[in-house]
Amino acid sequence: MNNVDAILQAGLSAVAGVTDLIELEQVKARYLGKSGELTELLKQLGKLAPEERKAAGAVINQAKQAFEAAHNDKRDALNAAKLEAQLASESLDVTLPGRGAVGGGLHPVALTLERISGLFRTMGFEVADGPEIESDFYNFQALNIPENHPARAMADTFYVEGGEVLRTHTSPIQARFMENNQPPIKIVAPGRVYRVDSDATHSPMFHQMEGLWVEEGVSFADLKAVVTDFLRRFFERDDLQVRFRPSFFPFTEPSAEIDVLGERGWLEVGGCGMVHPNVLRIANIDPEKYTGFAFGIGLDRFAMLRYGVNDLRLFFENDLNFLKQFN
Ligand code: DAH
Repeated sequence: MNNVDAILQAGLSAVAGVTDLIELEQVKARYLGKSGELTELLKQLGKLAPEERKAAGAVINQAKQAFEAAHNDKRDALNAAKLEAQLASESLDVTLPGRGAVGGGLHPVALTLERISGLFRTMGFEVADGPEIESDFYNFQALNIPENHPARAMADTFYVEGGEVLRTHTSPIQARFMENNQPPIKIVAPGRVYRVDSDATHSPMFHQMEGLWVEEGVSFADLKAVVTDFLRRFFERDDLQVRFRPSFFPFTEPSAEIDVLGERGWLEVGGCGMVHPNVLRIANIDPEKYTGFAFGIGLDRFAMLRYGVNDLRLFFENDLNFLKQFN
């Protein structure tokens, strides 16, 4: 029993000296394990005379409790230190400035499309849509362009397997809409169109918007008024000069090109005309009762004019330095 204190002191200083939890458990096993030093002392109690046993047992149990208390304190301290170290290594400085959100924006052609659709909506037009892969019928025949008609050469067409085409203009949307709706019809139809053509002012894919108003009594004067009003509102110039220059399209009669007077002279922005009676007839609209006008404008051209962009290709190269100017 004389050893008890010496063993306890050695145990306490061993506990005091450990630096991690694994080591601490090894020290505990050395003193309180199955054959630990304090455990061994307890085992020997049986060898003592009964009258000594009680006092000796109390002394050993006290030593055991003192060791356990030191062990628990040490374990708590090591756990706390471990947590502390982990928090320190994972700490974030919440006062650092953020990286900043990079805001995207609409493409300039999309902005232009939205603006133009909006202007026409205020004039009572609704927005219509149609497929980009189009049948020969809607792209040509329904628009009074029969097979072998010279007007087919006006645009170099991309042909798709199976005889369909990538639509060369948005005009097929008017043919589709008239087929499914009776007058009054007042639509604009924006979308992508495709032609075999590529340089600074032509891209194999570009954007047009078709306009169509069919109703009893619609005249060329209405066409001039609507188009002129739209152009003046788009360019935000009440005195904008607009010119209707005689031209030819198979689907309109009479037909005209639409020109606006800019700083560098007259500039063509689209085509228009009175819907050809054949086009109305094919769509089952009575040309004796109804008249209508149609127009087609190049949306990319409008975007270039509005934003002062001089090369069409900039719109389709997806250069972020160019695009972010429109955010
Ligand atoms: N579809 C013609 C083109 O692609 C543009 C056009 C001209 C559309 C006259 C029309 C129109 O609706 O009446 O060049």
